[in-house]
Amino acid sequence: MALQVVILAAGKGSRMASDIPKVLHRVGGVSMLERVVHTAEKLKPKVIHVIYGNGGEKIKKELSHLRVKWVLQKQQLGTGHAVKKVIPKISARDQVLVLYADVPIISSDSLEYLLSQSPLNGVGLMVTEVADPTGFGRIIRSEMANIESIVEHRDADAEQLHIKEINTGILTTTAAHLKSWLPKLNNKNKQKEYYLTDIVRLAVKEGVPVGGVMVEPEEVQGVNDPWQLACIEKSYQKTVAKSLAMQGVTLLDWNSLQVRGLDFSIAKQVTIDSRVTIEGKVKIGKHVSIGAGVHLKDVVIGDHVEILPGSIIEGAIINNNARIGPYARIRPQTKIEEYVQVGNFVEVKNSTIKRRSKANHLSYLGDSYLGERVNIGAGTITCNYNGSSKFKTHIDDRAFVGSNTSLVAPVLVGEGATIGAGSVVVREAPENQITISRPEQKSIPKRKKPSKKSK
Ligand code: UD1
Ligand code: CA
Repeated sequence: MALQVVILAAGKGSRMASDIPKVLHRVGGVSMLERVVHTAEKLKPKVIHVIYGNGGEKIKKELSHLRVKWVLQKQQLGTGHAVKKVIPKISARDQVLVLYADVPIISSDSLEYLLSQSPLNGVGLMVTEVADPTGFGRIIRSEMANIESIVEHRDADAEQLHIKEINTGILTTTAAHLKSWLPKLNNKNKQKEYYLTDIVRLAVKEGVPVGGVMVEPEEVQGVNDPWQLACIEKSYQKTVAKSLAMQGVTLLDWNSLQVRGLDFSIAKQVTIDSRVTIEGKVKIGKHVSIGAGVHLKDVVIGDHVEILPGSIIEGAIINNNARIGPYARIRPQTKIEEYVQVGNFVEVKNSTIKRRSKANHLSYLGDSYLGERVNIGAGTITCNYNGSSKFKTHIDDRAFVGSNTSLVAPVLVGEGATIGAGSVVVREAPENQITISRPEQKSIPKRKKPSKKSK
């Protein structure tokens, strides 16, 4: 018996007040649908089916990289109708797990728990208890506390409306059962929909066991409107922060940390100050400290690195023991080696900086190569762009570039060369020589001002 996952994603999301399909809205930087697919993958199912409808082409285009089978539900006639669309494609011998694309932060641990605790050859429902059950299907239990049915909010009577135990929508049963029950569903209810939840009543009637597995309400929050999306973002960020903290990351202000993406790893003994954003593919080594207000996107950071406050780093590799910032901007295709220092208001783009080199103040290094132990004086600029093309600057080991130098690329600064402050370097600066290009300093004795003739 293999597992097959069915993700329902065809709904309109008319309450989202948005042009984009509901399931493409992002939580933790990743669309809700992709997040659910990613969680489902951890269960190693044979197939993941996605039922799509509204905004279908947009969804398929944006998420074409997902390894799922797309199943079109042209008209959204209810959750039961949605599952019915896919059930002919699933072998009767397989187990089916139904997930909702708009319940995006469910954990794989909870899903595994549901699968392991559900009655064999029966129905397993993921349920929770909430203070305000408005809008949810209520779990109706017998006097013996057995689950008897699920009644949707709009179909519930006054007494049922008081029930706080609700259906999360996530359930599991065999494909064989679904093949027998789904054709029996009807839409005789307030919403005129084919409810998947009505299979519970059919199961009970046939004596098939139905079990409820209780999970924390935070994990199974659904998104129906923009405020719920905002709230779920908070819950998600809290979950991430908590798991980082439990792994040994020191969070000085977990509430302001933002992690966006699916692929990040942060080692132990890392300290993260307030208002830090971590986005995309990020890897952070041991004993790293990340200052307040730092933004990291698609970066690999080695061990013992210090990122000082206000720095923005994107698409870069920062090696062990480097020190970046405060207020540095490191742009894509940059490689920074061990013990390098990039200081305040320094911008680096598409450049390699070798071991122990320093650019500590107010510089722009674009399309450049800096060897080892190079010193870049304050205010040095690589002039890499002539208005139409970009050119390279190459600075060899141990070169010393004086403050306020303009290096007009393409240009080479030789090994051990010294550039006088304020120079405009347009040709090769030979190795081990001092190159200086600036108007000679002159001092002119004060002249007496001509005095005005009085009339
Ligand atoms: C559903 C459950 C309810 C539960 C709640 C939890 C039913 C009948 N009710 O109600 O018991 O408490 O979820 O959030 O199942 N969808 C389709 N095709 C359709 C209809 C819906 O793909 O024809 C998808 C939607 O995109 C969504 C999910 O199914 O992802 C749930 O549909 P929705 O209409 O939001 O169900 P609820 O009324 O919230
Ligand atoms: Ca509905």
